[in-house]
Amino acid sequence: MSSFWASKLVAMTPPRLSYVRSDGEILSQVVSSQADLLAKYGGVAPKMAEEAHSQAIDRVVQEALDKAYMTEKDLTAVAVTIGPGLSLCLRVGVQKARRIAGRFNLPIIGIHHMEAHALVARLIEKDLQFPFMVLLISGGHNLLILARDLGQYIQLGTTIDDAIGEAYDKTAKWLGLDLRRSGGPAIEQLAMEGNAESVKFSIPMKQHKDCNFSYAGLKTQVRLAIESKKIDAKIPISSASEEDRMSRADIAASFQRTAVLHLEERCERAIQWALKMEPSIRDLVVSGGVASNQYVRARLDMVAKKNGLQLLCPPPGLCTDNGVMIAWTGIEHFRMGRYDPPPPAEEPENFV
Ligand code: KG4
Ligand code: ZN
Repeated sequence: MSSFWASKLVAMTPPRLSYVRSDGEILSQVVSSQADLLAKYGGVAPKMAEEAHSQAIDRVVQEALDKAYMTEKDLTAVAVTIGPGLSLCLRVGVQKARRIAGRFNLPIIGIHHMEAHALVARLIEKDLQFPFMVLLISGGHNLLILARDLGQYIQLGTTIDDAIGEAYDKTAKWLGLDLRRSGGPAIEQLAMEGNAESVKFSIPMKQHKDCNFSYAGLKTQVRLAIESKKIDAKIPISSASEEDRMSRADIAASFQRTAVLHLEERCERAIQWALKMEPSIRDLVVSGGVASNQYVRARLDMVAKKNGLQLLCPPPGLCTDNGVMIAWTGIEHFRMGRYDPPPPAEEPENFV
């Protein structure tokens, strides 16, 4: 086991890749951006994303190795995202990971994307012990989890339709915001200029006393408000009149307030449920892209404190998708002996 401490892992959530040492030191991080495609098309079609991943993957692996002053021979294991996500893109990563692992005789560890969002908190906060509460908020998922141990997760709540990040992204698109970055940061920024009380949106699922989420109805409320204020998304906010800009900012702020009130309510109930099962819980981990939002953090900090917990949010760069979280989760599993043996050195093309 001692040689393990000098070891490195490679992680892939294409097109993001990182090398992380088993003590949590991040040796390198490379992100191959799809920002141009996002800005041009307002999204990335699966086939287009697969193409971009395939073209980028070899370069990204090499660039990250160079940045870490390493070669593949320095690696101890390979961790790779196996889901959930776009299967075409996941396949590009899995094929590359298997090629490296096969060629260099390395164990391989398949990682669940959402588990990685949660566990990266243990890289940041080495004292974070199981059991703890987790709220995961991203583009595709809203999850409330009681993490009892590595691999032992009790789901307390999930979304019944859209996730909060999807609602941020659509709101940004309909408000004509600059989509070169994802919609969330653009809404967060614009909301600072607006009055969060000005548009009355109703909080989703108030009558359901559970921990599930729903953002589809709030999206519809936002769309109707945008239509009633005659906001034209084709006019970018940078060209909007002052009055138009203000009404967009009011909608952004009111949307954000309602979206986060829904999080607060569900989160508080989940904490109370979880404390009944595991009274020793001390921490609430909040992660996933939306957790990089400062307003979201501040509001959830209040919820955590009110319920006697400490809020732990990874830094923004580790909340949004990244390779570090995959490598770190690989390290967590590797330590427990949970990995697959090296694949054959020569696998047929498109084996996965
Ligand atoms: O975890 P993530 O990077 O990718 C997924 O697994 O989906 O999350 C992406 C989501 C997007 O919907 C993006 O708009 C949102 O996270 N996001 C934010 C912020 N930064 C990213 N939402 C609100 N405020 C932010 N600052
Ligand atoms: Zn994610």
